[in-house]
Amino acid sequence: MKCDHSKKHFVVHNAKGHIQQKVVNFIMNLRTTSHPFYLSRHGQSEYNDLGRIGGDSGLTNHGVNYARKLAEFVDKKIVKDEKGADVPARLWTSTMRRTKETAQFIQQNKIIVKGDADQYEWVQMRPKAWHHLDELYAGACDGMTYEEIEETYPEEWERRNVDKLAYRYPRGESYLDVIARLEPIIIEMERHQEPLLIIGHQAVLRIIYAFYIGKSRAEAPYLSIPLNTVIELVPGPVTCKEQVNLPLIASLLFSNFTLFVAICSLQPC
Ligand code: F6P
Repeated sequence: MKCDHSKKHFVVHNAKGHIQQKVVNFIMNLRTTSHPFYLSRHGQSEYNDLGRIGGDSGLTNHGVNYARKLAEFVDKKIVKDEKGADVPARLWTSTMRRTKETAQFIQQNKIIVKGDADQYEWVQMRPKAWHHLDELYAGACDGMTYEEIEETYPEEWERRNVDKLAYRYPRGESYLDVIARLEPIIIEMERHQEPLLIIGHQAVLRIIYAFYIGKSRAEAPYLSIPLNTVIELVPGPVTCKEQVNLPLIASLLFSNFTLFVAICSLQPC
């Protein structure tokens, strides 16, 4: 494959296999300009507070407080440059209540963007809700605490501890399933040019984060995606730099969930 990104010119020979075609698609969607990604978990949900996994609960007061702080952060840091000029930017959430409620205070102003040849109207941070970004579905265990899972399904609990990457909840998902459904998200992240804020969930953000930061599958399960924090990632030509963790409000106390992540086959080149 020969690429000339500056002229948007690609020559592809003999890319017949499944993986080859995926790689070609991925490379053709890579951008050559760098723009930051901001990753944030949703604010504290009612289920977080109860130590329950999954579900579709709304935010607690702490969660709403974080949502307000996040909107202030977006205003100061994402949609403006250092001189205060508008920067067109994107906002993605999952389809779940807790991520949408975390986005609720973010302003959607219309701005005019000057392109190379023309100018166009842009709605800042117009929310786009993706099913792909929904939290790993725990099937029969959805809505339970970890203690309840261990008690009710001891064998399942054991199997998950042995191989969390491949473990699939009864009638639910595994991390490998989540990795597969995140592939279009990664392609879209590569394709766009604007700064992007993703308000997501623990398992899903671990995978996106691991992918960009270049962590191995072995390390990934133990990655920390803290609550009440925005992680800023700036992809470069070779690796992705993690700028800073920006805790927007002091961390709340949550159950200490065991972490796990896997990295999809597409590694940033
Ligand atoms: O915040 C809890 C949560 O997002 C659950 O909904 C989800 O099942 C869990 O984290 C994923 O983490 P782990 O794979 O470590 O159980």
